[in-house]
Order: sequence, then structure tokens, then C-alpha cells
Amino acid sequence: MSAQILKALGLDQTNSGTYLGRGEWSKTTDAGLLQSINPSTNEVIAEVHASGTGDYETIVQRAQEAFATWRATPAPRRGEAIRLCSDALRKHKDALGSLVALEMGKSKPEGDGEVQEMIDIGEFAVGLSRQLYGLTMHSERPGHRMYEQWHPIGLVGVISAFNFPVAVWAWNSFVAAVCGDITIWKPSPKTPLSAIASMKICNEALKAGGFPDIFFLFNDAGTELASQFVDDRRIPLISFTGSTRIGRIVGERVAQRMGRSLLELGGNNAIIVDQSADLKLAIPAIVFGAVGTAGQRCTTTRRLFVHEAIHDEVLTKLVGAYKQVEKKIGDPTDAKNLMGPLNSHDAVQAYLGAVEKAKASGGKVETGGAAIDGKGNFVLPTIVTGLSNADEVVQTETFAPILYVMKFKTLDEAIAQQNAVPQGLSSAIFTQNLKAAESFLGAAGSDCGIANVNIGTSGAEIGGAFGGEKETGGGRESGSDAWKAYMRRQTNTINYSDALPLAQGIKFEF
Ligand code: UN1
Repeated sequence: MSAQILKALGLDQTNSGTYLGRGEWSKTTDAGLLQSINPSTNEVIAEVHASGTGDYETIVQRAQEAFATWRATPAPRRGEAIRLCSDALRKHKDALGSLVALEMGKSKPEGDGEVQEMIDIGEFAVGLSRQLYGLTMHSERPGHRMYEQWHPIGLVGVISAFNFPVAVWAWNSFVAAVCGDITIWKPSPKTPLSAIASMKICNEALKAGGFPDIFFLFNDAGTELASQFVDDRRIPLISFTGSTRIGRIVGERVAQRMGRSLLELGGNNAIIVDQSADLKLAIPAIVFGAVGTAGQRCTTTRRLFVHEAIHDEVLTKLVGAYKQVEKKIGDPTDAKNLMGPLNSHDAVQAYLGAVEKAKASGGKVETGGAAIDGKGNFVLPTIVTGLSNADEVVQTETFAPILYVMKFKTLDEAIAQQNAVPQGLSSAIFTQNLKAAESFLGAAGSDCGIANVNIGTSGAEIGGAFGGEKETGGGRESGSDAWKAYMRRQTNTINYSDALPLAQGIKFEF
């Protein structure tokens, strides 16, 4: 199975992890070797040669050269390049979706869904390439006109995480490309094959269409190159997806050199279920949100606040649903399975640690709570009750399928609790009560970047701006006007009169 997937995507047992541009993959073999591990078996899928310092320099120099041409290419023409990438991804959707399932461990339908997100953002970017609108303003001076325009920012550095090994790159790089930027990608060391395959698909499509290089790739065996990348003044924007701990360091370092960072960090997302909720909608949404991707989405539902009057009923239904999911845990490349493994052995340890901590804090494990014996990193999806929102383990994002279920009496109390965490990514309410829904969405409601009614916390569509507040980092990417992060704004004032009046009525006569 694994060999077939690799072959379909032009990958070998040993691969170069560095795309240098001009159709060249680096021949560096002395900068360390990354092993792509199948999380279902802990066997090596294939190996990847990491990039050297020389490779990195070549990439940045070539990216700078490419930018000089690309920024002057009309935006709709840039959109045409991304249209070719989207078309190519559509052709490779099945194989790339399978590779994502194999290497990351998410289910095959979710792997395919991730490739669909790449296709969707590509098509969004094509439309965007004919927009990128600036405003016009009325000048206070006669015979003057004001407007603003958006120019490409330059080189964009993308550091992505293992859990969305391909879509997050596409969100950034496709939008950045139509904005006129060149992207350099450093993927997670846990998912280098998915990154190499995506680069091959897109770069071959660009080459066939006669387009220049707009995407580059390097892989780091340690943290030295990544650290140089973050500090590199030639890269005005670093888009980082990952933990709050590392994101804080990235944000501080980029700010130190007055660069821009776009941070997509941890979430501790909650769903509120009030008394009026339609449980036919709420239960599947909670289960998908908490168990989907084995709890390894930044938008995963980690906390559930249920009105005390329906708490026991909701809990019983959830436990029943979890028992059904348990029967469909297994090899994620088999489309029948709903839940694959955690991505690493360390993640299993973190899961077990959180379960122990929950118990030690007085929590009751209602279902799950254990790893599944065997070669892979499989765990049982877990529900814990009896904890308070203030408990440390509830306040912490553990990247695993653990759901903390808590009771509430009033909506105000539920909203206050849902907001009382350091993170602010995604949130949802299940209600049929208009006042409750609008209160949740109002200024005194959810403090998250994403707030939903009668749908869950995860599985955002690409059309909206994606990101969150507080320790989630404040960045927005993907749809809406998130493109503005990839451009620099310029305000222009044009005088077409024969006089030189100063603004604010200032007189300066000599
Ligand atoms: C992430 O987990 O890093 O909303 C991104 C979702 C996906 C994106 C998640 N579309 O779940």
C-alpha cells in the first residue's frame, strides 16, 4: 500500500527534501536524514535528506530573483498559475490524500478533504487575482485625489505543522502567489513526504504551463536552518502554524527585526449545548469535533459545556457514540475507519499524562482513557467529567482526543467559562433560541476568532478568515480579506491642480 502511494506521487525510498528552483532538487546528503514514520505501525515509510546551509542560501537568492519578475506579472496572470496548481491537485487528490493519511495518520476521507481544501483555496485565489481591491478616498484638498494600492510584500516564509501537512501551505502560498509573493516552505519534520509530493505536483504544473518558480522548499534536520529563517531580514513575512510555546518565540524574534508574523497557534475550543439544542445536530458535531483527526486539529473540540438539565442525557448519547467510533479505529488509509493513530509516540505519552492528571484532579473517565496495545500510536477517544474549567489540565491544549464535559446553569456562566482559557481560536453553541445564539455571537459573547451556531468548532471552510485571538496568536489566513497580510499597503495622494495647498489648512509661505 505504502509503496503504491509513493510511486503514484513520484517519491522514492530516499528523497531530496530541498527544492532549489529551476527544476532542481538538491543533491545534499550530509545535512541529516529525516525519517517519515508511519504512525499506524511506527515503521519507516521513506527517508528524506535534509537541507544544508548552502541550499538555504541558494533558495533565498533564487526566491529574490524570482520575486523581481513575479511582482511585475499582472495579478490575473498570477492567478492562471494557481489555476494550474489547483487542476493538478485535483488529478492527484486520491494519491495525495492517501499519503496524508499514511504519513500524518488522519483518516482517508479527512486526507482527501485536506487536498480538497488546497483545491478550494487555489480556486479562491484565482478569483482573488482579479480583485485585491484598494479603497479610494476623498481628499480634503481641491484638485487632489487619494487612493490606496496593495503591492506584493516579497518573500513569504511558511512554517507548517504535522496535523495539516499540505492545506496550510496552500492557504498561505496560493494566496501569497496571486498577491505577487514567492513562498519558501519549511514543513514539519514529521510530514516531509506530503510536502515534497505537494511541491512536485505544483511545480510540475507550473513548469508545464511556462511559469517561473514561485514555490521553494527546505527541510531542517534540527532547528538551525529554521531559526536562521525566522531571523532572516530578506523574508518580510513569516507565517507560522504550531504550538503557542514555539509561536511565542517566532513572534518575538520576527518582531525584533521588525518583520511581520502571522501566527496560528493553539486552541482550547469549546461547544456550549443549551437546553433548547437539537441533539440530532449537537451529538455528531461534538463527536466529529472531539474525535476527528484523533483530536489533532487546532480547532478540535476539547471542552463541552452542557446545561445541567440535559447533561446526563447528552453524556449517555456521547458515550454511546464513542463506543461506535471505537469499532472504527485503525489504519487511516482504509476509508472505513473513522479514527487513525496519534502522530507520534510522544503524543501518546502526552495523552496518557493528561488522562492521569485529569484523574488526579478528581476527574472521572466516562469512556476511553487508555492507549491501544500494538505497534502503532492508537489511543481510545476519551470523555472526562467532574473537572472544573479552571483545572490545569482543562486549561491546557493536549493534542489528543480528550473531551472535558462540564455542566452549566446560565448562558452567561457558560460563555464566561468558555472564554476563560488563554487561547481563543474556535467556539460553537448549539441552541434553537435566537437570544442565546445572538448573545453568544455578540460583543460580550465568544472571544474567539471563530464562533459558530449549530455547527461544531472544527472543519472551517476556506472562504472565511481562519485564526484566533489571545494565545492563538491573532493571525488570519485563508479566505475573506486575509490576503492583506501578504501585501504591503501604499497610500497615494495625487495633485492634479496648479496649486500646492497643504493639508490641515497649514500656511507655509515664503
Ligand atoms: C489546523 O488544525 O491547523 O477548521 C487547521 C479546520 C480545518 C483547519 C484546521 N479546516 O478544522
